[in-house]
Amino acid sequence: MPEPDVKSPHADPLDATFEVSLRPPLFEEFAGQDKTVERLKVMVDAAKTRGDTLQHILLSGPPGLGKTTLAYIIGNAMGAEVRTTSGPMIEKAGDLAGLLTNIERGGVLFIDEIHRLQPAIEEYLYPAMEDFKLDIVIDQGPSARTVRLNLAPFTLVGATTRSGMISDPLRSRFGMNCRLDYYSAEHLASIVSRSAGLLGTDMKPGADLEIARRARGTPRIANNLLRWVRDYALVRADGSITPHIAAEALTMLDIDADGFDEMDKRILEALIGLFDGGPVGVGSLAVAIGEEAGTIEEVHEPYLIMQGYIKRTAQGRVAMPKAYRKIGLEAPAATSTAPQPDLFGK
Ligand SMILES: Nc1ncnc2c1ncn2[C@@H]1O[C@H](COP(=O)(O)OP(=O)(O)O)[C@@H](O)[C@H]1O
Ligand SMILES: [Mg+2]
Repeated sequence: MPEPDVKSPHADPLDATFEVSLRPPLFEEFAGQDKTVERLKVMVDAAKTRGDTLQHILLSGPPGLGKTTLAYIIGNAMGAEVRTTSGPMIEKAGDLAGLLTNIERGGVLFIDEIHRLQPAIEEYLYPAMEDFKLDIVIDQGPSARTVRLNLAPFTLVGATTRSGMISDPLRSRFGMNCRLDYYSAEHLASIVSRSAGLLGTDMKPGADLEIARRARGTPRIANNLLRWVRDYALVRADGSITPHIAAEALTMLDIDADGFDEMDKRILEALIGLFDGGPVGVGSLAVAIGEEAGTIEEVHEPYLIMQGYIKRTAQGRVAMPKAYRKIGLEAPAATSTAPQPDLFGK
């Protein structure tokens, strides 16, 4: 099985190796996201049939849903080399020029966290994406001049956890915009089984689903939980993962049957206990629980919203009846009867 060479600048080395080893190299091994995968396969097949360069692709969605994985699968399917960087790593126009001039014809440049590109760098990227040209200003003052570099046709794959932060001019230059969704427990179970197989771990029927149900719809979390359960099974049992062992191991991590972790619970408790169920701005919520507002918005909130625990309104975040029940309270009458609580917001 060909293994892509992936280097994530942020993950710690151990995690990076673990993730890379579990990364499916082919569309066929990538579970779920059926519509996105179908579209990407059509694009790839069409480009290959015509002998064209693949159009630029934007992948968006919460962390851990498979954006980086798909970028490498796309490169692999095109038989193209993939070069990886991330928005904040490109500090100067020269950095971008260095990357772009090194890409071979038809190659893939993967820019992770593309919403964090500096506006000035973005400007340089537009002609590169459109016409495969880069206008670089060299020197300063009276001797300043623009040099135009011709680039080999390439494909830009951008990934973002904040698609709302992508500027319109940048977004419009992508030929395809793919939004990844949270995974069903069934798809996550198949990912867990595949990973257990790759790790050489014996897993009994049903254990995959036990782990999948608590993974917040996220493959990265599913794989990380599997890693913990595998260790637990080794130390506390004979190494095989049964549904019972999996449940025991995950309870020990304080991950409940809905996949809530400590931070999810704190968000709901603060929203209800301190802010009376909202509406409250994410900034105030962040201060109350000691977490970055950006992390709440990118990592925690999307899942809580998707599951119907909280609601995002113009006035701020509002707790839904399910949130009250989750922390063992009864929902206030107004909230539980009102079909659209935000209309009654303070
Ligand atoms: N659809 C999928 N099928 C199998 N494994 C997946 C899938 N999506 C993600 N993974 C696994 O989850 C982990 C995180 O995926 P990654 O692509 O790094 O997420 P992102 O870049 O969106 O944060 C990787 O180890 C990857 O192998
Ligand atoms: Mg990634």
